[in-house]
Amino acid sequence: MEIKICRTTHPAPKPEDPRKAGFGTIFTDHMFLMDYSPDKGWHDARIVPMAPLSIHPGAAVFHYGAEVFEGLKVYRTPDGHVQMFRPMDNVERMRNSAERIQLPDFKPEDMLDAMRTLVALDQDWVPSAPGTSLYVRPVEFCSDVDLGLHSITSATFMILLSPVGSYLSGGLRPVSILIEDQDVRAVRGGTGYAKCGGNYAAANRAAYRAEQKGYDQVLWLDGVNRRYIEEVGGMNVMFKIDGKIVTPALTGSVLPGITRRSCIQLLKDKGYEVEERLFPVDELEEALASGHLEEAWGCGTAAVISPIGKFCYKDHVYEFSKENGPCAQWLYDTLTGIQWGTLPDPYGWTYPIPKEV
Ligand code: PLP
Ligand code: COI
Repeated sequence: MEIKICRTTHPAPKPEDPRKAGFGTIFTDHMFLMDYSPDKGWHDARIVPMAPLSIHPGAAVFHYGAEVFEGLKVYRTPDGHVQMFRPMDNVERMRNSAERIQLPDFKPEDMLDAMRTLVALDQDWVPSAPGTSLYVRPVEFCSDVDLGLHSITSATFMILLSPVGSYLSGGLRPVSILIEDQDVRAVRGGTGYAKCGGNYAAANRAAYRAEQKGYDQVLWLDGVNRRYIEEVGGMNVMFKIDGKIVTPALTGSVLPGITRRSCIQLLKDKGYEVEERLFPVDELEEALASGHLEEAWGCGTAAVISPIGKFCYKDHVYEFSKENGPCAQWLYDTLTGIQWGTLPDPYGWTYPIPKEV
């Protein structure tokens, strides 16, 4: 794939410390764009200065939500290099998400090339302050101008870069979780396993209610029985019970998280037994009441490892822990050590970015 590069003539000032700006509010100087049409296929791959897009208001993405996205991070190592984390896993998940929505497929090597070239061009934006990284947000959406419900014929692919600190305010600290018993996020056969915008729109009302009650995040139950724990808004979830790790199985309505996959590998290699299975909320309540629940945490690219300190389910409040548990802290240190290049990477998860474009 040939990528045309048009460099900005007005580079923006880089944030002195992205930790002060929240998550995903500052963008780098450039973005990647590419278009799809049935006659030309994917064409016009280009990197251009960051600017608002001009899109027809009749474009189907605004009306019927045909959109998928990804999220991964680039880290600055102590020797000043920059590296991405498991980018091909995001590429493959994006292709699976696009397939679910019937957006056009793309060559995996083209998406990787687009991310590598854009990051290489804007690499001075990768921050070096502790706990910071450059978040990569690839997006594909339907650009057909058509209010009829038809199969998708044209699409746009874009990639944005944003220097970020921690996703949840206050850095690594125990978060409070409201277990949602009214709305559901996804059902088997639906789009739960795909990273598509509609899933997040469906989550908004419960997230708002949780926020009003003073909770950081929502924990979703399965959509059929309203009993089995699935995942947190932007994270998968893990529990340590009697020394064993339990995490909800990937049943089709849960996003197959790349952080989840990495944590499972690290935990197994450390000697933990990891159970991927259906995990009923009543089992969690029992483990909380009996003291068998030792730790709980969420895991995701944006949120990294987020220890859970408090649960609320049907107005029962469980003040579980005010501390980051040792297993969650070990996972955080080990995972981010590999990502920031302060620990060796025996898994080949890191992907170096060239110094030159
Ligand atoms: N579940 C949901 C709903 C998410 O949005 C995310 C974030 O990407 C995750 C889980 C964790 O996935 P990953 O570790 O690949 O970021
Ligand atoms: C990510 O972790 O990359 C996500 O997409 C989650 C989102 C809520 C920021």
